[in-house]
Amino acid sequence: MSIERLRVVITGGAGFIGSWIAESMVAAGARVTVYDDFSRGFHENLKRIKGDITIVEGDVLDAERLGRALDGADVVSHQAAVIGGTVEDPIHCLQVNIEGSVNVFRCSARAGVQKIIFASSETIYGQARYVPEDEAHPSEPLLPYAVTKLATEHYARIYQRHYGMQMIGLRYSNVYGSREWYGRVSTVFLKRALEGKTPVIWGGDQIRDFLYVSDLVDFHTRCLEMEGVNFQIFNVSTGVGTPIGELARIIAEMHGTGEPLREDVAAGRPSRLVQGMGRALLECKAMVLDNTRARGTGWWPRVDLADGLARQSMWLRENPQAWGLSPESLRRPSIERSGGGT
Ligand SMILES: NC(=O)c1ccc[n+]([C@@H]2O[C@H](COP(=O)([O-])OP(=O)(O)OC[C@H]3O[C@@H](n4cnc5c(N)ncnc54)[C@H](O)[C@@H]3O)[C@@H](O)[C@H]2O)c1
Repeated sequence: MSIERLRVVITGGAGFIGSWIAESMVAAGARVTVYDDFSRGFHENLKRIKGDITIVEGDVLDAERLGRALDGADVVSHQAAVIGGTVEDPIHCLQVNIEGSVNVFRCSARAGVQKIIFASSETIYGQARYVPEDEAHPSEPLLPYAVTKLATEHYARIYQRHYGMQMIGLRYSNVYGSREWYGRVSTVFLKRALEGKTPVIWGGDQIRDFLYVSDLVDFHTRCLEMEGVNFQIFNVSTGVGTPIGELARIIAEMHGTGEPLREDVAAGRPSRLVQGMGRALLECKAMVLDNTRARGTGWWPRVDLADGLARQSMWLRENPQAWGLSPESLRRPSIERSGGGT
């Protein structure tokens, strides 16, 4: 499938990952519509391409509006989702992520969309029985959000069988980079580092697989170009596990903030040192995804963790308000690495 002139609708296109996908599609010559309710997305994320795209402010739960936005589309990139969804409060996440995804699939079928690429998640595997986890690893989600992503995969398969459009589900590992939202561990470490404070580690032996967002976008483009796929699921990841303690050391060293601190925070309890943050009640010990299937398409991740973090740090320094930092609170830059290496 050639991307030039392709009509692509990106749900959640004003968010972190969706806006990167939108930029890459515009650069490739596609005609792009962003469909987003702006609950977590920002016009600011689209400022570089706003003259080249159509923006529809709409909810994926609004099937009528969604259907109109999808009219004439060739491809849908479905990124809209509620991130989170706790055991105490699962309903909104369930509605947006499952009912919303089913709306996207139904409306796409009616509109004659040829291909849907949708965001799934590493969280569907639950506690790893082995790492790296390949696509055949058992799925035992620990959290309601992960159940919604697994359910979406099952619905995608059903719609593919009934309507014959191509469906590609991408199980992202921990994607990071500029325009990322604040809240996950690397963002907490980075924000503190820019204020001149060293990272605070809870545990530190949890292992995560950090994928720089441009690598994800490259794989997304590859999926668009792929021919002859009916239904396929890919892990999109580096396949490299980084202990959180190691992540903290890299960020501390990069910003010259000194040795990371250790804080004993029990599961589900707030931190005394990091304001407004606390430890999750249920943590996956290791999430490292085997990317052999994705590599089989000729793709591989190119940005190493230190380079990716340096790029993200530069972005945060230029956009401190994105994570609630005031320009005055920023420490003078001490990063020596440049962002190169894509
Ligand atoms: N960031 C990661 O590491 C990661 C990992 C695994 C999976 N994912 C998945 O990737 C996708 C993009 O995630 P992200 O990190 O860019 O998050 P994000 O919150 O930045 O983007 C989600 C976008 O969806 C929009 N949205 C939410 N509810 C909506 C609704 N009801 N109708 C229309 N739009 C709605 C938000 O406004 C936002 O712009 C999501 O599906 C997420 O579950 C992300």
